[in-house]
Amino acid sequence: MNKITDLFKIKYPIIQGGMIWNSGYKLASAVSNAGGLGLIGAGSMYPEILREHIQKCKKATSKPFGVNVPMLYPNIEEIIKIIIDEGVKIVFTSAGNPKTWTSFLKENDITVVHVVSSSTFALKAQSAGVDAIVAEGFEAGGHNGREETTTFTLIPMVREKITVPLIAAGGIATGRGMLAAMILGADGVQVGSRFAASTESSAHDNFKHTIVNVHEGDTQLTLKELAPVRLIKNKFYQDIQDLYQQNPTKEELITLLGRARAKRGMFQGDLIEGELEIGQIAGIINEIQPAAKIIEDMITDFEIAKKEITTFGF
Ligand SMILES: Cc1cc2nc3c(=O)[nH]c(=O)nc-3n(C[C@H](O)[C@H](O)[C@H](O)COP(=O)(O)O)c2cc1C
Repeated sequence: MNKITDLFKIKYPIIQGGMIWNSGYKLASAVSNAGGLGLIGAGSMYPEILREHIQKCKKATSKPFGVNVPMLYPNIEEIIKIIIDEGVKIVFTSAGNPKTWTSFLKENDITVVHVVSSSTFALKAQSAGVDAIVAEGFEAGGHNGREETTTFTLIPMVREKITVPLIAAGGIATGRGMLAAMILGADGVQVGSRFAASTESSAHDNFKHTIVNVHEGDTQLTLKELAPVRLIKNKFYQDIQDLYQQNPTKEELITLLGRARAKRGMFQGDLIEGELEIGQIAGIINEIQPAAKIIEDMITDFEIAKKEITTFGF
């Protein structure tokens, strides 16, 4: 009996995080077919592209899957309408106020999960009526919390505050990491970086090969004045640091960021000028593997680690 497998009607409490430019229907359906929960990342899709991905996902899997909606999305109303029209039953919202859409989605018979980076926001999400919460530590890839709270500290603090099921995210790429998060109080895990480097990820091969070559210390959280994001330290990252030396205004940072940097880096493979989002845990990701193999390895590792606990010896 596990609250996450029960909530989503899946085999393993492993969720593949929605990831701009990485998680289209191919990845989402592969994860769902392997017993996890796959999420289509709507954040990098025009509304009609999202519709296409949902329709293809329905054909590619008979298992449950969901859509991740960063709420800063400019076409949010259109996106929500498509999700409802297409009969999607699970939505993970992020980057915004959970009060805005939760009750509307729930009235439409959708299971709603919200992503937070602090226990204050976890409480807000719970009172907005979400079915579960993802608590994401600052070691995670992509956009995350300004306060730099790590997964190891965040999970037990959120667990104390909330009663709805809790999903841990940030720095989890193995069964051991999953077990650790669950011992700290999570009911399941959300994994991003490891799936970004999967065969089915829609990222450019240049980005996938870069992820498997990332070492400890190669990523950094930056652009806190805009939306804090963890990036690989490439030339674009260095340009940001150089600008910081000159005490830039917010507008100057926005100008440097420009448009479509993330697409350029992760989808088009420009490793120099593009934005390359990945988590600290990329340091232990050494291989590009099919999503099903990732899930299988995580579950095997989880079971081995669970047995090892009894041999700690004190
Ligand atoms: C390349 C990339 C893109 C991401 N894009 C999104 C996104 O669009 N929406 C979102 O809620 N989270 C996004 N995330 C966060 C993931 O969904 C997930 O919570 C996170 O990657 C977990 O931490 P990990 O990278 O250490 O596994 C992204 C992460 C990565 C690595």
